[in-house]
Amino acid sequence: MGLRVPFVPTPQPVVRKMLELAGASPNDVVYDLGCGDGRIVLTAVKEFNVRKAVCVELRDDLVEMLKTTVEREGLKNRIEVRHQDMFETDLSDATIITLFLLTSVNDELAPKFERELKPGTRIVSHEFRITRWIPLVSATVYDGQVSHNIYLYVHGYSNRA
Ligand SMILES: C[S@@+](CC[C@H](N)C(=O)[O-])C[C@H]1O[C@@H](n2cnc3c(N)ncnc32)[C@H](O)[C@@H]1O
Repeated sequence: MGLRVPFVPTPQPVVRKMLELAGASPNDVVYDLGCGDGRIVLTAVKEFNVRKAVCVELRDDLVEMLKTTVEREGLKNRIEVRHQDMFETDLSDATIITLFLLTSVNDELAPKFERELKPGTRIVSHEFRITRWIPLVSATVYDGQVSHNIYLYVHGYSNRA
């Protein structure tokens, strides 16, 4: 599929709210699809103490930078960095998926979520909806400059027929 969305980082207050809304806890395995500089996986591990976080990113420079950070901070056993197209990555052990992509890309990912995710997996998206799914919760976060929308979906609830 190739690179679908440019790198634009999620502001830190929005990152925290996304993980809070998803109920991130030590039982969770968090995947950030298109993880940029890795701020979501780093926050998930360092502030929410999740069991494991997986960062999936296509851009070489961002992957190399995050690998260096993960090594420096001694987090190699808890953060996996996959230099891979998000459409090719296996999501079967995820309990939380985080997204900051585009509605069109979310909609293309939805069938993959339906095939691979366990019922009850939470998907939390910054700014962009999954068109045919119903969010369980929506929230707005003001970062000091602009407001950001967040949508929380639960596989098995949000996409039931
Ligand atoms: C808007 S940024 C979001 C970064 C991070 N998730 C955040 O919220 O701070 C989207 C990221 O997705 C990456 N990306 C775009 N298409 C991709 C693909 N097909 N597979 C993996 N990563 C991709 C881009 O390189 C970029 O870093």
